[in-house]
Amino acid sequence: MRCVVANWKMNLASEEARSFCEDLLAHFTPSAGTEVGIAPPFTLLHLVSGLMRPKGIMVFGQNGHAEAKGAFTGEVSMPQLRDAGCSGVILGHSERRQFFGETDAALAKKIKAAWQWDLLPLLCIGETLDQRDAGQTLQVLGQQLSILAETGPGPLWVAYEPVWAIGTGRRAEAEQVREAHAFIRAELNRHFAGSEYQVPILYGGSVTPESFPELLGIPEVAGGLVGGASLDPKKFAQLVKQAS
Ligand code: 13P
Repeated sequence: MRCVVANWKMNLASEEARSFCEDLLAHFTPSAGTEVGIAPPFTLLHLVSGLMRPKGIMVFGQNGHAEAKGAFTGEVSMPQLRDAGCSGVILGHSERRQFFGETDAALAKKIKAAWQWDLLPLLCIGETLDQRDAGQTLQVLGQQLSILAETGPGPLWVAYEPVWAIGTGRRAEAEQVREAHAFIRAELNRHFAGSEYQVPILYGGSVTPESFPELLGIPEVAGGLVGGASLDPKKFAQLVKQAS
């Protein structure tokens, strides 16, 4: 299975989102082996899920709180994401780790909460440039995946997003992606040993229609988590076609 997910981050307002969806649908043909998802900001979830879910496109939250409800001003819970039409939730994006203090301990709770509310977690992991330069990449990825020892197995997608490749136009080299994805696969096999769950591993970080075909040819790259290029419906439709 191939997976292509648009992470809109903190971009677009309702009219832009509506015209994106119309444009994408004009250029998009669903294909059996490819899951397509969009992760809009919370304010656009209802609108986007109303337009996209009937066409078989998944909708993801960009974050979700571990508690179902309560006094957590500014947060959105997993049942609220479901209510807004989501079938998945991005968790542990590096921007949340970097700017909002997201911790591995919190992420373990969030994954369990997502499962409880029947949402597919898309867990993001990746090293910073300092960590790569210090030769710590695999150690960092192993640490970030170690929360799976606590959650146990379940439905999951993982995205490898080297922090230094996000929004920089500097995509990771094929060999770097191959090494990271092979390591992630081995760790997933260990944590999910004996379980029935197949976990696709997406790559994220400056994915464009120019770079995506090469990435898709790397073993264990099941698709892409796309930021900048996903804001252009024609480019995003092209990425979906390349994956199909
Ligand atoms: P860019 O595609 O803009 O580098 O963003 C990647 C990303 O962070 C997707 O979650």
